[in-house]
Amino acid sequence: MKNWTEEALENSLKKIERNIEGIGEHFPHVAYDGIYNDQGPYFWVSGFWPGLLWLLYEETGKKEALKLSRKLEEDLDEVLDGFMTVHHDAGFMWLPSAVIDYKLTGNEASRVRGLKAASHLAGRFNPAGCFIRAWNDEVKPDSQGWTIIDSMMNLSLLFWASREYKDPRFRHIAAAHADTVLRHFIRPDNTLAHIVSFDPETGEKMENLGGQGQDGNSAWARGQAWAIYGMAIAYRETGKESYLNACKNVAAYFLSHLREDKAPVWDFRAAKDSRWALDTSASACAASGLLELYSLMEDGPDRDFYYEQALAVLKGLYDSYFDHRQESQSMIQMGTVHFPAGKNINVPIIYGDFFFTEALIKLKHKTNIF
Ligand code: GLY
Repeated sequence: MKNWTEEALENSLKKIERNIEGIGEHFPHVAYDGIYNDQGPYFWVSGFWPGLLWLLYEETGKKEALKLSRKLEEDLDEVLDGFMTVHHDAGFMWLPSAVIDYKLTGNEASRVRGLKAASHLAGRFNPAGCFIRAWNDEVKPDSQGWTIIDSMMNLSLLFWASREYKDPRFRHIAAAHADTVLRHFIRPDNTLAHIVSFDPETGEKMENLGGQGQDGNSAWARGQAWAIYGMAIAYRETGKESYLNACKNVAAYFLSHLREDKAPVWDFRAAKDSRWALDTSASACAASGLLELYSLMEDGPDRDFYYEQALAVLKGLYDSYFDHRQESQSMIQMGTVHFPAGKNINVPIIYGDFFFTEALIKLKHKTNIF
């Protein structure tokens, strides 16, 4: 008899396979009634559907998955070569598309795409404040000094580029940004805000901003998850204990504030009247991050703790939020994109599905995307 993790992975992979036809050459973001929208190639989530296809390809060898993912990767060239809209999320866009393609198939054009994306990302580093700048003026005017916790997940692109070029420049930038996060984002109670604003000329810290969280003093659930996974990556790539400790500390806060069904409220400090909004994408990402952490630790009870916690979170997601309907393209329900803006609340989100599937695969073996 199959155990629940095998069953969950099988059901996830079946959905991805059905979606080759259903989603096809589109760039999904959120689903309504189980059917994904098409957000187009420019939005920051455009790497996740190609990434799901690569996970399917790796697990099953299905050639159709490779073909479609390669086509989507090529469609992203208009964004990469158009240059002006590329921002801090270059990792989210090109790690699960071009870089994983290169890692799995050795495709040279994919390697070049990955290196271009990494160069864009490195070019956003502000040496005065030691941070990677978020967004561009067209989207957020006067945000030259803003940096966001999400960028921790993009650092993996820089670490990869350093290895690829055999040149430490990119790794130094990634580590300098991660050090800034340690210094200026993580509070003594192990929570953090979405955005920190610096003076872009002097590098001096100005203030915390709420962004997609409730406010500058709150604990946006997905931001805490980006920090857990991102700090695990920074530790993996540098061996620096301070990243390991930060990962464990933020994880401790995250895990102890989950609901009984293991889903987080969209912001752990959300006001009473908004606690009906959940963000399952945060727990999917945190579970994958905890398994990354687990894979980096030495045998022992401390290590087992993170495995068991990740498993419990995934079980909670599967038991309470997995959409089993055949006709549904989406997997994990009840994610929240942007509560303060009233955008896409309690809906399936493509990165929730991605991190859920990635984490289930990590229960079997290592993954190589983030
Ligand atoms: N990177 C933006 C978000 O997590 O919604």
